Amino acid sequence: MAGLTDKVILITGASEGIGRALALALAPLGCKLVLSARNESRLLSLAHELASQGHDPCVFVADVTNRFQCQQLIDTSIEHFGRLDILVNNAGMSMCSKFDDLIELDILELMMKVNYLGPAYLTHAALPELKKNQGQVVIVASVAGLTGVPSRSGYAASKHAVIGFFDSLRIELVEDNVAVTTICPDFVVSEIHKRALDSHGRPLGDATVQESKRLTAEECAKMMVPVISSRGRFFITSMRGRLGRLLKLFAPRLIDKIARSAVASGH
Ligand SMILES: NC(=O)c1ccc[n+]([C@@H]2O[C@H](COP(=O)([O-])OP(=O)(O)OC[C@H]3O[C@@H](n4cnc5c(N)ncnc54)[C@H](OP(=O)(O)O)[C@@H]3O)[C@@H](O)[C@H]2O)c1
Repeated sequence: MAGLTDKVILITGASEGIGRALALALAPLGCKLVLSARNESRLLSLAHELASQGHDPCVFVADVTNRFQCQQLIDTSIEHFGRLDILVNNAGMSMCSKFDDLIELDILELMMKVNYLGPAYLTHAALPELKKNQGQVVIVASVAGLTGVPSRSGYAASKHAVIGFFDSLRIELVEDNVAVTTICPDFVVSEIHKRALDSHGRPLGDATVQESKRLTAEECAKMMVPVISSRGRFFITSMRGRLGRLLKLFAPRLIDKIARSAVASGH
């Protein structure tokens, strides 16, 4: 992946799951990493692990729902390494409740703030620098941004929103040669399912998941690296996701059934 050597890459949601695995996959390629999330001790433990392999990442604690902190995160990244080439909008949060069972309606707003507005704020703050460097924005969306998902309506809405937003931005940025790369993971083993908010807005704790049938975060990150390196436009991690996207045009009810049974069986 010669295209990534010496690139300054900011990864949000780097304290866990896919973001953490992506940092560990990118560092050996010679990338200079900025790691961000809210949990400082987890970020520092990742930075420590990377330092033991000879890397020297920058750590900055920020909540992507806070516009001011988003600006500070971008400013700090540029100050620390002298430039920013790639912004990876990976931080995300999910929910698990049928809409008519939902008691805490703030969940809907939170999904939008974390999964859509956060990436929009960060990208707005980063754009002058990314234009200067003919850089790249990566958005870790979801297959839930391509189809309806029962009990994840607010999550699916936020992922549809972020995909539509970055599809629009990609067209706006053609002349600036800033690439927009949308990645849609299918189910991946991570904490997101346990941290998903229930109908009261509390973390679910336990989730029905069949880990054996899912990608690990490391496998997902490994698939993402060449897509980022080649400045790819759009990537879905699973074959069923790729086929489902086409099939939805001809057999939308079948896709609804598949979504229902995937959520019910946890894979
Ligand atoms: N796992 C899946 O099955 C799956 C499938 C499709 C798409 N995705 C997407 O992949 C991305 C990564 O998810 P994951 O599975 O790796 O989940 P995860 O293990 O729960 O990690 C989520 C990351 O986002 C950070 N985060 C959450 N809210 C934040 C906020 N307000 N501000 C800043 N950081 C925040 C978390 O760190 P802190 O708590 O420390 O802030 C954590 O580092 C998400 O966008 C998710 O929607 C995941």
